[in-house]
Amino acid sequence: MKFKLHSGDYMPMIGFGTYQIRGTQLIRDVLDRALDAGYRAIDSAAVYGNEEDIGKALKELLPKYNLTRQDLFITTKLSPNDQGEKAYEALQKSLKNLDIGYIDLYLIHWPGVYGVNSSKDENSKKRDLSWQKLVKGVKDGLTRNIGVSNYNVRHLTELLAKDHGIKPAVNQVEWHPHYHQPELLELCKREGILLEAYSSLGGSDNKDLVDDPKVKDIAQRLGKSPAQVLLRWALQQNLAVIPKARSKQHIDENIDLNFDIPTNDMKILSSFSQKKYSWDPDTIV
Ligand SMILES: NC(=O)c1ccc[n+]([C@@H]2O[C@H](COP(=O)([O-])OP(=O)(O)OC[C@H]3O[C@@H](n4cnc5c(N)ncnc54)[C@H](OP(=O)(O)O)[C@@H]3O)[C@@H](O)[C@H]2O)c1
Repeated sequence: MKFKLHSGDYMPMIGFGTYQIRGTQLIRDVLDRALDAGYRAIDSAAVYGNEEDIGKALKELLPKYNLTRQDLFITTKLSPNDQGEKAYEALQKSLKNLDIGYIDLYLIHWPGVYGVNSSKDENSKKRDLSWQKLVKGVKDGLTRNIGVSNYNVRHLTELLAKDHGIKPAVNQVEWHPHYHQPELLELCKREGILLEAYSSLGGSDNKDLVDDPKVKDIAQRLGKSPAQVLLRWALQQNLAVIPKARSKQHIDENIDLNFDIPTNDMKILSSFSQKKYSWDPDTIV
């Protein structure tokens, strides 16, 4: 399953998350399992500290699976520390770390700026300058697509109104039955922006969702695991997913999502009480 981005590039709807997966050997082993299972998209970020190890691992693993660079879709992100003037150099640095010729998708990780009070207009000014630098990054061939992450309706509307020549291809946000924003999905659909879910399983070390009795009940009736139901719930709303896993069993399971959740069960999953797990962009001006 793929989504056609504004640029005409196709992005896989199921990717592989790498937050907190660090270290040369661990990255190599986990990506080995992921490529073997069929994942062709990898989600990284400058702040994850694993770009260089991902690049090294791919040099060994692409030939192993008879793949070329074009078979993969690599996403990485601008650190909130590098917003504004430094954004272009940060993009160059990520590309150098990954050493893969070009980046497929480069995202502004967060609407705010490290060290700047969340209520200051400087956040808005710097993220706008970042966007202009990333537009140059596309023109110079460093990255094929650009997008944002953790942008709410207000942040996204502001960026679209500036009209810097390239619209965001993707908005990557927290999205699971305990936290979803239908109005953000509507806006993205209208603008042809792919909404991409993160922490679909509740994030690291949080079993609230995979252990939820309603999720387990639906999973049992469909003959699937709770994780598969959570991921399929997002896919069925036309969101991309990027589950993170280390074990072969989880990695294999999370890409095996070719089934349907009946409408009634979709409604049950969409009506959970809301509780955010990750950082909250609504606090950023
Ligand atoms: N843009 C942002 O601000 C942002 C924020 C957070 C995350 N992300 C991206 O989104 C990716 C995914 O989000 P996430 O890392 O927060 O967490 P997640 O994918 O929601 O959950 C990961 C956790 O679920 C476990 N798990 C994986 N598959 C499972 C399965 N089939 N059954 C039961 N448990 C399973 C994993 O354990 P094992 O490792 O033991 O398998 C891990 O502890 C990240 O890796 C990152 O790439 C982006």
